[in-house]
Amino acid sequence: MCGIVGYVGYREAFPILISGLHRLEYRGYDSAGVALVSDDGRLNVQKCRGKVADLENFTVSKDVSGHIGIAHTRWATHGEPNDVNAHPHYSESGNIALIHNGIIENYGVLKDALIENGYTFKSGTDTEVLVQLIEYVKTTNNCSLFEAVQSALKQVVGAYAIAVVEKGNCDEIIAARKSSPMVIGVGEGEYFLASDATPIVEYTDRVVYVNDGEIAVINRNKPLKIVNLDNIESRVDIKKLELSISQLEKGGYPHFMLKEIHEQPKTIVDCIRGRVAADGSNVVLSGVMANCERFLQAKRIVFVGCGTSWHAALIGEHLIEDLCRIPVEVEYASEFRYRNPVIGPDDVVIAVSQSGETADTLAAVELAKKNGAFIFGICNVVGSSIARATDSGAYIHVGPEIGVASTKAFTGQVTVMAMVALTLARAKGTIGEEHFREIANGLLHLPALIEQAVELDAQIRDFSKMFTYARNFIYLGRGYNYPAALEGALKLKEISYIHAEGYPAAEMKHGPIALIDSEMPVVAIATRDSIYEKTVSNIQEIKARGGRIIAIVEQGDTVVRNIADYCIEVPTAPECLMPLVVSVPLQLLAYYIAVNKGRDVDQPRNLAKSVTVE
Ligand code: M6R
Repeated sequence: MCGIVGYVGYREAFPILISGLHRLEYRGYDSAGVALVSDDGRLNVQKCRGKVADLENFTVSKDVSGHIGIAHTRWATHGEPNDVNAHPHYSESGNIALIHNGIIENYGVLKDALIENGYTFKSGTDTEVLVQLIEYVKTTNNCSLFEAVQSALKQVVGAYAIAVVEKGNCDEIIAARKSSPMVIGVGEGEYFLASDATPIVEYTDRVVYVNDGEIAVINRNKPLKIVNLDNIESRVDIKKLELSISQLEKGGYPHFMLKEIHEQPKTIVDCIRGRVAADGSNVVLSGVMANCERFLQAKRIVFVGCGTSWHAALIGEHLIEDLCRIPVEVEYASEFRYRNPVIGPDDVVIAVSQSGETADTLAAVELAKKNGAFIFGICNVVGSSIARATDSGAYIHVGPEIGVASTKAFTGQVTVMAMVALTLARAKGTIGEEHFREIANGLLHLPALIEQAVELDAQIRDFSKMFTYARNFIYLGRGYNYPAALEGALKLKEISYIHAEGYPAAEMKHGPIALIDSEMPVVAIATRDSIYEKTVSNIQEIKARGGRIIAIVEQGDTVVRNIADYCIEVPTAPECLMPLVVSVPLQLLAYYIAVNKGRDVDQPRNLAKSVTVE
């Protein structure tokens, strides 16, 4: 979960690399570095601890000339964040420099062998082992850099997206990937390379997604060449990039997170466009329709995902069981992949991932695939690894999500899940016409309802000030709103660093209610659903023990208003869509509390947007 960038062509490489690193900083931001080859062949490595801005300061008044270079922004796995562990790493002779996103799992064995051959190591990283190995292979076999990379990678166990440059060669970058993403941009007399397309979009819309196990020879004077580890050449499949620069900018908002919260009325429109008939009579999700029999014959559906995507999947479980009467399980991808799950050809696995690159989710997909399950993806990033590994899927189409805390992707995922459930329910005959139309029309009205929820911004900003110094929070919900409570708590934890727990409201009396006192803010989601009265009783139980209740209620609610200390009113949607509406004030509450505390909202400590390591 680091970001990598590369450039070779006729322009000065450094500014392109730095602006690319800024775009990829969401992937990691504890150190950064560049390696440039100057026109006279010098290899120049500059790196330091800190963010990309620190690297820019570090290189002020240094020579950073050259028309070829590679650059990296790091999220530490092996070795603490410091100058030495920052990438690029370079070989014993100083002739080869390499950047890496991933983990070399057998680095210990490789390192011992290299030490026996006289190599010394400066850093605590797994990556340095790979660059040394490449040099070792190159010198012992007297071969080209490409051949050395190809041969060295045969010895590597683990995940990697790497780019390598060499002293004396100002024309060529060698790049390779396995289980970590890589995109190559193809310009006129120039090439770009990055972990995703965001650093490339302003230069070209022609991209090549490198496949697992492939090595790219990127030479500014030659057509792009892609081969695998066995030297079999692949066809270079150039795709058109559907991404605009404005989508990657803050558009006047102080943080990407706030921009992305406010974008949700529009992103829901994009998500349902062409999928829900304007009169609510039909929902067409081609990836489901084309495989309807496979879904309907499944003994069960298993969702896999992590973090926010896992929370969205919990809502998907409710939707599909409720509307389609198909048994559903929801698994943390990181647990599923290692616990020898019973999974086979009778199962449909739905992989949920904003980035489409989460290592655990990808591994869960591969495991389920190997066991014969049909795999359906719900991803945001088009062409991402998970999207490509699945048998079919539906993109959520919410545009690039850059804030580390997921917001618009969550509402997009749940919206797609509602469309999946409606499509299957109608095909299976488990939903009546009236109920179908009620939910389909609810989807059509959703952008307007979310807009009303977004308009709570000023109220929540003011009210959030009361909680700047809270040390703990509890979030409660039931039914469809229980996952929304978990998601609200996760948002607060990750960006404000306040401890928060999400709980099913009725579970409180089985233990956690002991935590309640006048210092404990309790966010209770109490919309007028089928178990509203039960939730109200649970809120009474908290109130009776002195808890401070912040209630999320539907407009016009008077019952909870009389019990709660503070009320946030949201508009009414069909019960199964309410978690989409209530999530917006929870996102805003977390956002403003974090801002009040002076936190780095878009880049919270210890986190990265895309977790491409396990
Ligand atoms: O890209 P993915 O949806 O697969 O990412 C999964 C989680 O890493 C992600 O949702 C994470 O929990 C977010 N930071 C939550 O806001």
